Amino acid sequence: MLSKEQVLDIRKDFKYLDIKENLVYFDNAATTQKPLQVVDSLKDYYEKENGNPHRGAHYLAIKATDAYEESRDKVAKFINATSNEVVFLRNATEALNLVAYSWALNNLTENDEILISILEHHSNLVTWQFVARKTGAKLKYLYLDDNMQITDEEFENKLTSNTKLLAITAASNVVGTMPNVKEFIKKAKAKNKDVVTVIDAAQFAPHHKVDVKDLDCDFLVFSGHKMLSAMGIGVLYGKEEMLNSIDPFLYGGDMIEYVYEDKSTFLDSPARFEAGTQNVGGAKSLAAAIDYIEKIGIDNIYEYESALTAYAYEKMEKLSYIDIYTTKNEHRSPVLAFNFKEAHPHDVASILDNYGIAVRSGHHCAQPLHRNLGINFSCRASFAFYNTFEEIDYFIEHLEDVRRLMGIES
Ligand SMILES: Cc1ncc(COP(=O)(O)O)c(C=O)c1O
Repeated sequence: MLSKEQVLDIRKDFKYLDIKENLVYFDNAATTQKPLQVVDSLKDYYEKENGNPHRGAHYLAIKATDAYEESRDKVAKFINATSNEVVFLRNATEALNLVAYSWALNNLTENDEILISILEHHSNLVTWQFVARKTGAKLKYLYLDDNMQITDEEFENKLTSNTKLLAITAASNVVGTMPNVKEFIKKAKAKNKDVVTVIDAAQFAPHHKVDVKDLDCDFLVFSGHKMLSAMGIGVLYGKEEMLNSIDPFLYGGDMIEYVYEDKSTFLDSPARFEAGTQNVGGAKSLAAAIDYIEKIGIDNIYEYESALTAYAYEKMEKLSYIDIYTTKNEHRSPVLAFNFKEAHPHDVASILDNYGIAVRSGHHCAQPLHRNLGINFSCRASFAFYNTFEEIDYFIEHLEDVRRLMGIES
């Protein structure tokens, strides 16, 4: 596991820690902080390599093209894909919408079923509600057991030979559940060889090794900003033959082959889906983020963050005035969702902020999940490898202050 010294060394790369004393950032599931190396890569790009990629014969246009395509190669290697299978988009949400518009609207009918889970973030839920409404396909949900897991029995009960789309998260942004998506994909394909599988890896890719070949998914999405990069860059992975068989999502420059007055032909993936001027700086910052993660080792990151989560969970479990919603299963993403029995989450988050502690409060873009848990909102502390056990102690200590300031009797 990462040692205390290693983490202290890592923290030197994160300048947000210099803003003020006792700034404890536990909102990493919303977006991570950025290390110097990532910020520098962006600065370097805009200072020394800025040009419009794929469109010029001059030095800076070529530099920009190289920066963009080298970043793509790095991402491809990171998830065990080929470069043509990596499409750069704005974020996971845009990637899911691409699959919805370009594949689902053209392929689903009223005889088909879309299978998602109650864990889903709105971006992997509202999108499929829209598709279901437009195509007549039936939207079905996988529900959770008491430990926030989707049992095999539940999966087998909901999966039918009409399941044409399985769209599921690899890690919950609220309760931390990491469903066995590899097994679910295998079972879905055994039931219906034409099923298309979409994995939402927005909360998985920052913490765990992603291997798209091993998963055998058709599509997988994630956002760079949740794994150290700049905002505005995200990834759609798709199997190459699948990507080349579907219509483009956005039309315009740099995605065409030939354009006539009355018709056009389009390039293959990834250019097919990257209309308009691309976010080269963002892509380069994602490549720098991957370098940073790989230097530490994704397995070391997962191990350390799991230890942080277990430590916080254990301490919080002892507080009788708190309800915890995160799964007890230690194979989970580093998020701790909780509520004070007698205080609103927004009050809790505001009071913690007075002590410099950043936690999220609200529905975390997962309203159906919250409703299913019998609540409307929760607080969420989410951890990253640059957090420390001491920060968790500080956070736990100040939970008592919330009660005191709210005038809640012991
Ligand atoms: C599980 C999950 N999926 C998708 C998203 C959407 O990510 P983005 O807003 O970067 O598109 C999030 C964001 O919180 C998420 O937690």
